Amino acid sequence: MTTFPERVFSGVQPTGNLHLGNYLGAIKKFVALQENHNCIYCVVDMHAITTWQDPKELSGNIREVTAAFIASGIDPEKHVVFNQSQVSEHAELAWIFNCVARMGWLSRMTQFKDKAGKDREKASVGLFAYPALMAADILAYRATHVPVGDDQKQHLELTRDIAQKFNNDFRSSIDEYGYGDQFFPLTEPLIEGPATRVMSLRDGSKKMSKSDPSDLSRIVLTDDRDTIAKKFRKAKTDPMPLPDNLDDLRARPEAENLVNIYAALSETSKEAVLAEFAGFEFSKFKPALVEMAVEKLAPISGEMQRLQADPGHIDQILKDGSDKAREIASITLGAVKEIVGFIK
Ligand code: TYM
Repeated sequence: MTTFPERVFSGVQPTGNLHLGNYLGAIKKFVALQENHNCIYCVVDMHAITTWQDPKELSGNIREVTAAFIASGIDPEKHVVFNQSQVSEHAELAWIFNCVARMGWLSRMTQFKDKAGKDREKASVGLFAYPALMAADILAYRATHVPVGDDQKQHLELTRDIAQKFNNDFRSSIDEYGYGDQFFPLTEPLIEGPATRVMSLRDGSKKMSKSDPSDLSRIVLTDDRDTIAKKFRKAKTDPMPLPDNLDDLRARPEAENLVNIYAALSETSKEAVLAEFAGFEFSKFKPALVEMAVEKLAPISGEMQRLQADPGHIDQILKDGSDKAREIASITLGAVKEIVGFIK
């Protein structure tokens, strides 16, 4: 069996409204993984345009996600931070993966079904092919680990299916060119901790999302103290005090969500939060949650503002990161072209 050096890759779409779910489910994990891994973090602007993006806003949103990465603690000197469209290898590999992935596989993707809605005929072809581009993002670097929120699990399974089918379909060519018995790794998703699925503050059955029409449904990374306080105050809850065990909590989705958020922000477990707050009314728990959120998020939003005041600096970080990313991705793509039988 071929062994692959450990490498972490993940991406965030620059579609505006970067929220607490993105931070706790993904970006906070990206920061922690830097300690012991080589990490590549990408602002996936080509994914963003699978649904309409106003060009006047897109570049600002790309810079905002980059600023959020850096303000949260990602080090673009030691690791790689870049935007997808500057490294054309992603698009080239995605095309090859479009020819490996099957229509049936992509038709089963729940994110496509949700985003396309009832009128699928009107969805862009890009929205349908989205997961093949995502597989290309990851496999251009032959990444072994991908930290994401729970909603990306199905896409990561598809990435494994694509890698496996490529490895099988081109087995003899992979062998002939001396790439071992597998060219692509079967990437492991990293979906752990209390905040893999942060829910809407207005409805505990829906995940917190950038596209929810209600601003009250999500905390965004640029919210100030008053806004954070207002959103948590208005967050839907039930009339009972917090329980002292996980079984009782599980039956109360809105309460569970707030406990999960507190646990993730304060880097403890849900059990520890219940041990501290069992029996508390929401009128007492919510102010503690606001304090915790402000303490953790205010420095990030302050730093994001500072960084965004100098767009030239952010653009330079993205350019340098893209140069580093291209160096790796171009080697993969060169090999893939050889394996597929293209003439270079
Ligand atoms: P995106 O931009 O929708 O979300 C970015 C990251 O945030 C996570 N996330 C959440 N986590 C917990 N609770 C929530 N409510 C919540 N909402 C979003 C997402 O799971 C994700 O980790 N397809 C990806 C972007 C992508 C990508 C990749 C990711 C493109 N190529 C390659 C990993 C590897 C997406 O749309 O994420």
